[in-house]
This record gives sequence, structure tokens and C-alpha cells, in this order.
Amino acid sequence: MLAPAQNKRLAGLHILVTAGPTHEPIDPVRYIANRSSGKQGFAIAAALARLGARVTLVAGPVTLPTPPAVDRIDVETAREMADAVDRALPADAAVMVAAVADWHVEPASQKIKKGDATRTLALAENPDILATLARSPYRPRLLIGFAAETERVLEHATAKRIRKAADWIVANDVSGDVMGSATNTVHVVTAAGVESWERLPKDDVAARLADRIADALERTP
Ligand code: CTP
Ligand code: CA
Repeated sequence: MLAPAQNKRLAGLHILVTAGPTHEPIDPVRYIANRSSGKQGFAIAAALARLGARVTLVAGPVTLPTPPAVDRIDVETAREMADAVDRALPADAAVMVAAVADWHVEPASQKIKKGDATRTLALAENPDILATLARSPYRPRLLIGFAAETERVLEHATAKRIRKAADWIVANDVSGDVMGSATNTVHVVTAAGVESWERLPKDDVAARLADRIADALERTP
């Protein structure tokens, strides 16, 4: 058993975590969403707080309890998430676990009626929160993205790390039943290469990742 002080490796550091899906309204009763449950992001926020970090968790619409000692900001849309992230800065590290909707539509002010089936939805791209943060003057010194892929997982994740100027991309294959499940099989893609972890409970992925984050922040003070 470690002494409590040694356990609190992230004491004094502020870490930002995004989690869950975003919802993009179509009309007052409908929205665009995705299957993210928020479990992995909430587990990561909890694990970072256990190591003593001050954690700000920007959460999309999920039905999960707030982890102990975590500051939670609830948002609905990608644009609200981008604003909340902005306001939470600066941070020493950021872990962008959220499955941010890639597009929004201009919502109709009244409920669209069934008979209006010929209507098309004009998609407009949402801000890329991770890529924007990577290029901002407030870039955290460790910036971690997630990549949920259904094919060519490592190829896509490696390209994403470069394109988004993230330090690490944690990739997972969501072609099975990962979304909503309690376990996850992840690959950590860094400048040094790829480290594949065995299938683990999401809480264990979170604890291991929190340790890696503490290692990295200790190496680059
Ligand atoms: N992300 C973000 N803002 C967005 C979209 C994605 O911050 N508007 C972040 C996610 O939180 C995640 C990472 O970027 O950490 C990768 O998300 P992903 O959806 O896999 O990447 P995209 O660039 O949107 O590519 P794809 O076309 O595969 O969806
Ligand atoms: Ca996306």
C-alpha cells in the first residue's frame, strides 16, 4: 500500500475531460445523437480525481452519476461543449473522450410534421474541439484524443493524431458492442508508436491511462 501522498501524483494539476455524446436538435422534440454512453470518459475523470487532480468534466447528455470530487459541467450540443471547454481553460492536460456530433442542423422552431417527408436536413459541420484546442495558445501540455473506429483502427487513429495535432490518440474498435459496454480494448497511439492493451473493464482502462498521464506530466514539468 502506498502512502496517501504518493498516491496523489496529480495533486495541484488541472485536467479537463470531455465525455458522452452531444445532441444536436432538429426541432423542439428531436435530435441527432450517437451511441456513446459516457462510461469511459466518466471513469477517466474519476481515476484522475483519485490521483489528486482537479478535474473539470464537460459532459454531454448521459445518465451517469458525477464521480467524487469532480467538477461537472453539463452541455447538450457540440457548440455548447466547445464553449464550456474554452471557459474551463487553462488546463495541464485534456482528455477528449466525448463522441462529439460532427454536424448540426438549423433546428425548426416548431415540431416537424409527419407529412413533411420531403424535407431535407442541411448538415453544417461542428467545431472540432480537439483540433481547435491543439492549435490554441492555451494548448494543454498533454492533449489526448479518442478515436472510435469501425475499420482500419490503427491506420485511422495514427492519421487522426497527426491531423488533430494531439499528443496521444486512444483508439478503440467499436464495430462490436463497446458502446455502452463495461469493457474496452484500446490502442494508445503516440509519437513513439502504438501500445495495445488487453481487453479491460473501462475502470481499469481509466486507471491505467491516469497513471500514464501522471508519468507523462512528471516527465515534462
Ligand atoms: N472531437 C472533437 N470535436 C469534434 C469532433 C471530434 O473534439 N467536433 C474529438 C473527439 O472528442 C475525439 C477525437 O476528436 O477525441 C476524435 O474524434 P473522431 O470523431 O474520431 O474524429 P473526427 O475527426 O470527427 O473523424 P471521423 O470522420 O472519423 O468522425
Ligand atoms: Ca467524428
